[in-house]
Amino acid sequence: MNTSIQFQGLTTVPSGALVFAATEGAPPVTGIAAVDQWAAKLYTSGEFTGKPFELATLHNPAGIAAERAVLLGAGKPEKLDTVVARKLGGAAVRSLKAKLITTLAFIVDKTLQTAALVQALTEGAVAGDYEPDVHKTKKDSKHLDTFLLIAEGGSSDLAEASRNGAVIGEAQNFTRTLVNEPGNLLTPLKLAAAAKQMSEAQGLDCEILDEDRMRQLGMGSLLAVAQGSIEPPALIIVRYKPDQPVEGIHLGLIGKGVTFDTGGISIKPSENMEKMKYDMAGGAAVLGAMMAIAQLKPNVEVTALVPTVENMPSHNAVKPGDIVTSLAGKTVEILNTDAEGRLILIDAITYAKRLGINRMVDAATLTGAISIALGAVNVGAFSNNNDWQQQLLAAAATAGEKMWAMPMDDDYKDLLKSAFADMPNIGSRGAGSITAALFLQEWVEDTPWVHLDIAGTAWIDDNKPFLSKGPTGIAMRTFVELTRKLSN
Ligand code: BES
Ligand code: ZN
Ligand code: ZN
Repeated sequence: MNTSIQFQGLTTVPSGALVFAATEGAPPVTGIAAVDQWAAKLYTSGEFTGKPFELATLHNPAGIAAERAVLLGAGKPEKLDTVVARKLGGAAVRSLKAKLITTLAFIVDKTLQTAALVQALTEGAVAGDYEPDVHKTKKDSKHLDTFLLIAEGGSSDLAEASRNGAVIGEAQNFTRTLVNEPGNLLTPLKLAAAAKQMSEAQGLDCEILDEDRMRQLGMGSLLAVAQGSIEPPALIIVRYKPDQPVEGIHLGLIGKGVTFDTGGISIKPSENMEKMKYDMAGGAAVLGAMMAIAQLKPNVEVTALVPTVENMPSHNAVKPGDIVTSLAGKTVEILNTDAEGRLILIDAITYAKRLGINRMVDAATLTGAISIALGAVNVGAFSNNNDWQQQLLAAAATAGEKMWAMPMDDDYKDLLKSAFADMPNIGSRGAGSITAALFLQEWVEDTPWVHLDIAGTAWIDDNKPFLSKGPTGIAMRTFVELTRKLSN
């Protein structure tokens, strides 16, 4: 899908549909007599009220070159912020491509002419075009060719906003494409190859630590998870260095990259196990963020680390009760082989600290328990540092990704005790997402850090008006926005 913006042509641009955001209360004033009369009637008759994602179509209205005028419900006018704008962009694309329209012109009237709203509209439109059916040989889904914003009388900075929005939307779709790949097609080494390819295309430095190197270093915790699979593990490291980095900040983005999680010897039930291909969503979010960062060029040094493995049961697999030594030297008693994410993350965290990283965020589909706590609505955000957590949450709010601060006070530490090693890899009862975060914190120590548990939010089972079902790409936009905030 091509996206662009122009500052004139509302009546003259040929397109399948000219879309007007129509808020509740009063019809939009388009300046096109035929459209305004039609819109006024729709509102007075009550056929159209402007509720979010309502749609009304007028064919061949007099006075415009477009084949249709479309009103798209935009909700209450006072609530039209970037979150709504992103959804409007997505809903415009999704509802109209379903009607076989290939060229869409979205009218950015005065109320929508801010850089933030234009960026969000474009992000939403690009993300709205994504469909998770790449492996269907006969596709029912449709795609839009052209998404054009028309901002008559708007200032030229909106063009940059729209380009930034396209970069972010495409990076989100890159993340979703990776997450959507099944375990047989996206193994750890394939994920590493995808990271390498993306890095080369974007001019980023990419280093892959292989199994031998990780053994030399002593990443016993990560390797314990990998040992049950015939697929070798990797630690993917992608580096971004701006010309003039802000001093004193080296941001580390760490993402869980389990390309398939069977649970290992503590095997999962077969029902829904196929979904465990999305257990690398954190890693994919980190890689998508790097793709956008390379193009948006914030002035902050960023290093991404993605430990990637396949978690399998086999004669070779790690067993409950096994004790392993992590890169940091601390020992772990593996009581449940299905709590594997934290085992690969701790070695990546220790390695990140050795690279000089002094602010960290990790994203991981870490616990089923976070879905019980927060459903598919909010990401759980755990932290050892209030200021850093507030910065992350502010970035998430700007990026339109819902996140909720979770507690992780010391009182919960009593649940994490092993008689035989420094730490068990699971807590004793209750608070499963919190004990998982506390486990990570033992390796993070004092470095400002936020852990994002995205197990509930990285995948949606139903289509939304503005986003297809399947992988959401959650956390990627927050990472990008965080680097932007840090660079100012
Ligand atoms: N990948 C899972 C968590 C998960 C569950 C992600 C459902 C997405 C949807 C993780 O590795 C896991 O299995 N965690 C266990 C931890 C338990 C053994 C303490 C869990 O949540 O059941
Ligand atoms: Zn697991
Ligand atoms: Zn897992």
